[in-house]
Amino acid sequence: MTLTKRKPASLDTIKAPIESELKKFSGFFKDSMRSKVGLVDIIARYLVRQKGKRVRPILVFLSAKACGEINESTYRAATLVEILHTATLIHDDVVDDADTRRGLASINAVWKNKIAVLMGDYLLSRGLLLSLESNDYFFLLSTSNAVKRMSEGELLQIQKSRQLNIDEKTYLKIIGDKTASLLSTCTEIGAASATQDQHKRTLLQEFGEHVGMAFQIRDDLLDYLGRKSIIGKPTGIDLKEKKLTLPLIYALNHAPRKDAKQALKMVKNGAKQKEIEWVVQFVEANGGIEYAISRAEYYSELARTNLAPLPESPAKESLLQFVDFVMERNS
Ligand code: IPE
Ligand code: IPE
Ligand code: MG
Ligand code: MG
Repeated sequence: MTLTKRKPASLDTIKAPIESELKKFSGFFKDSMRSKVGLVDIIARYLVRQKGKRVRPILVFLSAKACGEINESTYRAATLVEILHTATLIHDDVVDDADTRRGLASINAVWKNKIAVLMGDYLLSRGLLLSLESNDYFFLLSTSNAVKRMSEGELLQIQKSRQLNIDEKTYLKIIGDKTASLLSTCTEIGAASATQDQHKRTLLQEFGEHVGMAFQIRDDLLDYLGRKSIIGKPTGIDLKEKKLTLPLIYALNHAPRKDAKQALKMVKNGAKQKEIEWVVQFVEANGGIEYAISRAEYYSELARTNLAPLPESPAKESLLQFVDFVMERNS
């Protein structure tokens, strides 16, 4: 018997069952952002070049296919979520004063905050109109709720980064609202586009919420572990923004008081590179990395359990692989 090593999950393998759908989606997405206003159109074209992983449309299509047949409304759902995601990232980069996004200059870096805020609003309304025009009432209900949660999550995060007193429960609330909410909308409306079966819809919605939690915990971990895309060094960007995420929260609560006080002081006073390195060390030494990994694993296990009752299919297999991808990704 030969032991075959399992290949790491890649987005390419995950996308295989919905390859042609994603191609068609790209056209939909591009068209949906068009405008007669020159400036809007220029930025829209830039956004098409500044391409993300397309995780959310992938989740919409796979969820639909795991529950039934992909149809016209599935395309509208996929376009809606990617437009909303794009809008929130544009706003997020204004809020975080970030000058790059997806390896290119951010919208605010190129066109300034004023234009970025308005462009985000434009996309938000484009997304909502797209659904209204087709009477996709349920899509609107689910996404409007997600957008509300995302704004609340971002605001709570700001509130907490000012007070620097965040605990694990609040952290989980923040990431549930700012990230898991939209991922669960993706899987929920994907399923809803393909089936009337309420049980399946609920399973997919819960799957999205759980995988979304794991997704953001991993994303926050990457700040400490280093992203492959930036030579694998910890960036400490969250620390510079005074954003306390799970690895640090855990370490602060489990380290000797003196060390914890020092770490908090460094973050509070705006940590420079040397201090970042110290804090990263502090987090590692006090079990913060290990703990955050175990929490991400906990949510990914819940996500896998949500899929268990679904009939076997290539789409279901891809959704399971997506969970692996979330846990293994390094960029
Ligand atoms: C970025 O999401 C924001 C988070 C929720 C961490 P993605 O990692 O899906 O971003 P893109 O679309 O691929 O750039
Ligand atoms: C991304 O949040 C935006 C939302 C999830 C709404 P972050 O600020 O944590 O993530 P990046 O690192 O800029 O993508
Ligand atoms: Mg942010
Ligand atoms: Mg940000």
